[in-house]
Amino acid sequence: MYNVEITGTGRYLPDFRVSNDDIAQFVDTSDVWISERTGIKERRISIRENTTDMAVEAARRALQDAELRAEELDLIVVATVTPDNFFPSTACLVQARLGATRAVAFDISAACTGFIFALSIAGQFIKTGQYQKALIIGSEVLSKIVDWQDRNTCVLFADGAGAAVLERGKQGIISELLGSDGTGAEKLACSAVPLQNKFTGTCSDAENGSGSKFIRRDYITMNGREIFKFAVNIMPECILQVLENTGYSLKDVKQIVPHQANIRILEAAAKKLAINKDKFYVNLGHYGNTSGASIPIALDEMAEKGLINPGDLLIIVGFGAGLTYGAQLLRWTKESSRK
Ligand code: ACO
Repeated sequence: MYNVEITGTGRYLPDFRVSNDDIAQFVDTSDVWISERTGIKERRISIRENTTDMAVEAARRALQDAELRAEELDLIVVATVTPDNFFPSTACLVQARLGATRAVAFDISAACTGFIFALSIAGQFIKTGQYQKALIIGSEVLSKIVDWQDRNTCVLFADGAGAAVLERGKQGIISELLGSDGTGAEKLACSAVPLQNKFTGTCSDAENGSGSKFIRRDYITMNGREIFKFAVNIMPECILQVLENTGYSLKDVKQIVPHQANIRILEAAAKKLAINKDKFYVNLGHYGNTSGASIPIALDEMAEKGLINPGDLLIIVGFGAGLTYGAQLLRWTKESSRK
């Protein structure tokens, strides 16, 4: 079996910054509440780019970092819960825009655990030898499915994209675990088009024609306390499990790169693991929760700052709607070319 190395990373954040004070202009909240309860100070919101646009830009930067041409890619996997279209997939649109003519392309849906699922899926193809070079992307425009009148959710979610190039190598993914618990599905959800058609008896020809009732928009709904409890338990569990039987302990891990949801979740997880909270890389203060994009954005930022170097052990860990969760123990192999 081969292994899988991350040979390039890239990120794209929209320019438009929205502060907590900006949000307090239209919902009953405050900078103090949001900062203290979540750690978020500001976030980027897209006013021009959709999910594919941001995915393409993050991908271009990752390819450049990996010094790879798009035509060399065998596979593109995009993790998103906010695609531009039901179909074609975001990955197919990215493939066309990059000119990745040889690549098989498809999307996956695992919400905030999306990047971890994408790494695992693409990684399997590389480990078995079927493919050699893959591009994985987490790209989200959550602002289009946020209810901007709901203070429970609109203060949390934001937009962004992160990408990684994967290539066949000798080391990389040391261990991994993925998990799903569909019994918790309703705790964090956003429904799509309801079952409603000419034959269900609920839409008239007139409605069908005008489209006004036929097209229903839905928004993120969340039981924040339940998700908080889930996250605080599952993150430490994933971290410990991914270390099991590897011969490594938390002491050997340079940095844990978690899904960026809430600073209090990370503090509680650190406490459970009896580790310093600085072991977690945190950038949620600037970007909020960008779902499947948060981990690759963090990895790219860390690489750029020279915070991760060849030989370092990292754990990436996420949780999210589904419910889903997962983690990978990685040996970083990429020399930073951008210090
Ligand atoms: N501003 C002011 N007050 C608020 C706000 C706000 N933005 N939001 C909620 N409140 C109020 C509530 O209405 C409540 O008031 P009440 O006591 O009068 O009813 C009070 O604050 C406390 O509410 P809680 O829900 O108990 O607040 P909590 O401390 O749990 O923080 C939060 C809420 C931040 C949502 C937290 O539960 C959390 O982070 N949960 C996890 C959410 C998450 O990470 N989701 C993403 C998962 S990843 C994915 O897949 C997308």
